[in-house]
Amino acid sequence: MIILSIESSCDETAIAILRDGQTILADLLSSQIDLHQAYGGVVPELACRRHIEIIGPLLNEALAEAKVPLAEVDAIAVTAGPGLIGALLVGVSFAKSLAYALGKPLLAVHHLEGHISAAFIEHPDIVFPAVALVVSGGHTNLYAMLKRGSHRLIGRTVDDAAGEAFDKGARMLGLGYPGGPIIDRLAKKGDVQKYPFTRPYRSKEHTNFSFSGLKTALRQRLEKMPAAEKEAPNFQADICAGFQDAIVGSLVEKTLLAAKKEKVESIIVCGGVASNSLLREWIKKEAERHGLASHIPSARYCTDNGAMIAMAACTQFDRSIFAPLNLNPSPSLALSL
Ligand code: KG4
Ligand code: ZN
Repeated sequence: MIILSIESSCDETAIAILRDGQTILADLLSSQIDLHQAYGGVVPELACRRHIEIIGPLLNEALAEAKVPLAEVDAIAVTAGPGLIGALLVGVSFAKSLAYALGKPLLAVHHLEGHISAAFIEHPDIVFPAVALVVSGGHTNLYAMLKRGSHRLIGRTVDDAAGEAFDKGARMLGLGYPGGPIIDRLAKKGDVQKYPFTRPYRSKEHTNFSFSGLKTALRQRLEKMPAAEKEAPNFQADICAGFQDAIVGSLVEKTLLAAKKEKVESIIVCGGVASNSLLREWIKKEAERHGLASHIPSARYCTDNGAMIAMAACTQFDRSIFAPLNLNPSPSLALSL
């Protein structure tokens, strides 16, 4: 069974071809970071236009790499939301046309279910129940999972997403876009004690997150600081270390609290921010300390990619959950059970 998947929800056009739910025959990604860097964030209109230019040639490349003729594809999967509406429309329209022309079923995938499914690419035997932390540029959600494809929302950010906090923090420090990887790299050389930030939302009563106060704390700190201090040789590394520690500390603390409350066996961490080296290390250490398994996809499967959409689509295909050809993308699609 061959699934062809398309992801175009934000600033990456991705197409993958997956055989029998486990062999990735092609997994191609065209990133638009260069296009948006000058603006310090994703410009939706530019993103849509680039998706339109890239998607056709990328499909041909993927088919050539997989050595699979289009006629042998059994189903077309596509990210139907959440994301930028114009960007989603490109992928969904393309997928619907392919499904119609080939007479093959269409599968509509939730972007966050895609991120969670990325964990199964390298770890197909995750033991349930599990708790999944999805940390991306737009979301910071915790889900309790009883099996693959089942998700119950048990925590979320009440304001900014963790990735957003990294990106906005980096922008305040004049570090460029996307901020997460830059802060991650700089923080490695920094002294985490030098600029401590209070870890937000420490209540053990709930498993929600809040990151906008942290952003304000960084701004106020920078405003009050004498200019000379900002020019100290290790200033950027030190402040990045403190800022990152507060974000990651909160993610780890709440994930472990959720794992305890839900009495799970495994922890999954996924989404763009799951590439963060401190988060990966810290989750692994804490999970081991509590006798839990932890599964974090390799960095290439943490950021948006096509393989994760195909993996999620496989579960739907097995359950015959197909989408109609009049499918419309939804920028704020909810992830149901
Ligand atoms: O999942 P993703 O690729 O796209 C969305 O669906 O949003 O996540 C992108 C986010 C950005 O905010 C980016 O700064 C963050 O992931 N990110 C990181 C790292 N790599 C990417 N954040 C912290 N540390 C990293 N190493
Ligand atoms: Zn994503």
